[in-house]
Amino acid sequence: MKNSAGDKDRTVLSVEGLVKKYGKKKALQGVSFKIAGGDFLGLLGPNGAGKTTTIKILTGLTKLTEGGVYYYGKDFSGHPREAKRFIGMVPQQSNLDRDLTAFQNLYLHTILHGIPKPLRMEKIDEALEFAGLKEYRDRQVKTFSGGMRRRLVIVRALLHEPRILFLDEPTVGLDPQIRRTLWELILKVNQVKGTAILLTTHYIEEAEKLCGRVLIINRGRIIAEGPPDDLKKDIGRYVLEIFLENRIEEHFFPTREEALEGCDHSCKVREVTLEDVFLKLTGRRINV
Ligand SMILES: Nc1ncnc2c1ncn2[C@@H]1O[C@H](COP(=O)(O)OP(=O)(O)O)[C@@H](O)[C@H]1O
Ligand SMILES: [Mg+2]
Repeated sequence: MKNSAGDKDRTVLSVEGLVKKYGKKKALQGVSFKIAGGDFLGLLGPNGAGKTTTIKILTGLTKLTEGGVYYYGKDFSGHPREAKRFIGMVPQQSNLDRDLTAFQNLYLHTILHGIPKPLRMEKIDEALEFAGLKEYRDRQVKTFSGGMRRRLVIVRALLHEPRILFLDEPTVGLDPQIRRTLWELILKVNQVKGTAILLTTHYIEEAEKLCGRVLIINRGRIIAEGPPDDLKKDIGRYVLEIFLENRIEEHFFPTREEALEGCDHSCKVREVTLEDVFLKLTGRRINV
């Protein structure tokens, strides 16, 4: 498939002061960020933080209450059709037609996205190859495993060669081994095709392994932003956990040696994770 890295370092998407109200409830309270060509951005936060709402606004599935969304500098609300050519979407719930084959599901997408007929077969073959699903081309989707379905939804979203792919909690409910094969596929999309990615997750490890940059979202607000390593460095690279009678006390240090100095028999030293960053900022855990 074609490498679409021509927009490397250009701002693909600019999000300014997004507010979303559902009735009186503010699901988003002023979310701003930018994504450049080829970026891999993670939106990490607990359930209810506003991740899906953000993605729905950015892909035109729901309306914003306040703020602005710009693709290549153009206002999304003024040019929705034009912007949608740049957008690929993998929703949290896969919306494949289970009674159709892999091929038929992909074919439907090529029609919906106006891909010219002479190009359709070639694109579908490439997509199946990219997902490692070539030999399952003519099988009904209902015979597929969870992992195969996710792979199919991902390559379907890429058929019209979007410049940015939105993935909403793409590995929820999958076992760890299948999660890893999906990670490989998603990284391949970013690295081989140069597609910018915005991935939401509440899995710490997923954000740390995949994302070049992470936005931590809590209650509709971005509370931290940066490469995972920088965010962790900011609080100290190592945690000393002291096991007290009914709680664990945590202290942060820049080096393992310094952390170990404070350690007697009832403690442990480990590397900081993004969960610690979240805990330090909010006093809560991402995954409870
Ligand atoms: N259609 C809706 N109507 C009312 N409230 C909603 C609706 N969708 C989401 N919310 C609320 O908005 C907040 C953010 O939800 P969501 O974006 O789905 O979070 P996340 O994807 O991070 O779990 C939550 O408090 C949720 O209950
Ligand atoms: Mg969600």
